[in-house]
Amino acid sequence: MIAKQISEITPFLVMDVLERARAMEREGAHVMHLEVGEPDFAVPQCVKEAACRAIEEGHTNYTHSLGNFDLRESICRHYFDAYNVKVFPDQVVITSGTSPAMLLIFAALIDKGDQVIISNPHYACYPNFIRFMQGTPVMVPVYEEDGFQYRTEEIGRKITTGTKAIIINSPSNPTGNLLSENRMREIAELAPYVISDEIYHGLVYEGKEHSILEFTDHAFVLNGFSKLYAMTGLRLGYIIAPEPFIRPIQILQQNFLISANSVVQIAEIAALEEAGEDVRRMRGVYDQRRRYMTPQRNWVWDYS
Ligand SMILES: Cc1ncc(COP(=O)(O)O)c(C=O)c1O
Repeated sequence: MIAKQISEITPFLVMDVLERARAMEREGAHVMHLEVGEPDFAVPQCVKEAACRAIEEGHTNYTHSLGNFDLRESICRHYFDAYNVKVFPDQVVITSGTSPAMLLIFAALIDKGDQVIISNPHYACYPNFIRFMQGTPVMVPVYEEDGFQYRTEEIGRKITTGTKAIIINSPSNPTGNLLSENRMREIAELAPYVISDEIYHGLVYEGKEHSILEFTDHAFVLNGFSKLYAMTGLRLGYIIAPEPFIRPIQILQQNFLISANSVVQIAEIAALEEAGEDVRRMRGVYDQRRRYMTPQRNWVWDYS
């Protein structure tokens, strides 16, 4: 018999659609891909070169289970430069994408029956991670009329003694909402922990994104290289976690995943240190497309 827990999990439909579309392409159909969040740019040249060099130089062993130290240092520098927050390399865990990072965070944080607050709509996989850990996703609706802002009063109404965490995702998939500084500060005070999925940081066209670490230490950052550096298939992400959670997360990683890809970890140092110009160019093109698709929309939301 298949494990009962699996029946809690719905398929990630965009992947089903993508796989069907690719099967149709193999049969000769012409398909326009609109299903997954897949950048249509090439991987930045500096990253390609660093990956090739890493293979040539034989960096093909398991890495430290927390990840390549130089990459962890580079992530700390990035968080300091971008958000003025001090993060230390031993608070960072490198994973094979943001998705495994979610698995490790939820596994380390959620006990049976714990409630985790998410916006509705949300990135489709969040409730599945929560249910898989036998937690309960609690939905807080967001509304178009205020640019899909999380309303802190509505979150407040859903908080119970069983609330373990609030997930935020700013900029958000699927709404594109950017949380204001004030709202993030308020949210940080509402629950024991905030899990902040920062994977779309750097892809902001108006206003400025904030890291949850500017407002609280009781937070887990999820981040990854898939979107900003156009490398979904290279699979690399990371966690920044409160210090007491690092050893438990490390034990999970050692047992279940061992370490992330050694070559890609080295390549991502180049992404963080050298790919700024590539990112600016890609963001510029996304911005042009956004304006083309929405010429008559009034883009001025009240983000207060
Ligand atoms: C909000 C959000 N978080 C995480 C992910 C997964 O990212 P990764 O490719 O790093 O696993 C996605 C992918 O679409 C996403 O939209």
